Amino acid sequence: MIKLIKEGSLLSADGPEFEELNKFSAQLGRELVFEWIGGQFWLHSDLPPEKPIGIEIDRELSRHEDYFKKSSLQKELLARAVGVKGPYRPKVLDLTAGMLGDSLLLLSFGCEVWASERHPVIRFLIESALKNAQHPKIKSFHFLSQEASEVLKACPPVDVLYYDPMFEDANEKTAPKKEMRIFRSMVGSDQDAVDVFQEALELKVKRLVVKRPRQSIFLSHKPSVEYIGKSTRYDVYFSV
Ligand SMILES: C[S@@+](CC[C@H](N)C(=O)[O-])C[C@H]1O[C@@H](n2cnc3c(N)ncnc32)[C@H](O)[C@@H]1O
Repeated sequence: MIKLIKEGSLLSADGPEFEELNKFSAQLGRELVFEWIGGQFWLHSDLPPEKPIGIEIDRELSRHEDYFKKSSLQKELLARAVGVKGPYRPKVLDLTAGMLGDSLLLLSFGCEVWASERHPVIRFLIESALKNAQHPKIKSFHFLSQEASEVLKACPPVDVLYYDPMFEDANEKTAPKKEMRIFRSMVGSDQDAVDVFQEALELKVKRLVVKRPRQSIFLSHKPSVEYIGKSTRYDVYFSV
């Protein structure tokens, strides 16, 4: 069962809107505790003393905006990987929304972004954060509470498909960050990553960008271009 806490009191989590979350919690074999803080729900970590996790949309967008007042977008590997150039801003479908880190960065570049997420807990956190968001750039964000394969069947009118699955390989050297540890303990690894990649590739959208840890093997064949950062690599596949 899940537990919803607001101002120290327990809220009811019996309604149909919580059915999926309750089912997931039962499958996982542990209680999931969400607390209402600052206008949205946060998930309590069961790895104390870490803070609960949630998505601060307005704060993140403002932080990126402030940063890009001083730093050029062209220095951002993600901006280059998706093809931001001069005034051009591609429309992007982020197939793996997660905690919206990359989606919010793309929005801050000025891109219009669609993003899909399949995990019930992450979807709950995203939907709760979206209700609380007021930043003007959020108007260019479209959340799809769906499996990526389903979204690809009726793909929005985008220039770029962006894919960041949790797919480990033996070449990964760095220990996952805190958020990733919580993710992995709950979401698991995306074992269908190669299949989803193939489905995305077959759509022949202008670009398919895959985010990988720097040392990892390619999800499939060699990309057209690689943008390599300190810990991350973006593999870009151009459609021919
Ligand atoms: C590595 S995380 C993405 C992190 C995200 N890029 C960020 O910056 O926060 C992968 C997320 O994508 C979701 N995911 C993986 N495969 C998916 C699929 N086929 N359809 C929808 N969501 C998927 C997982 O549930 C997980 O939340």
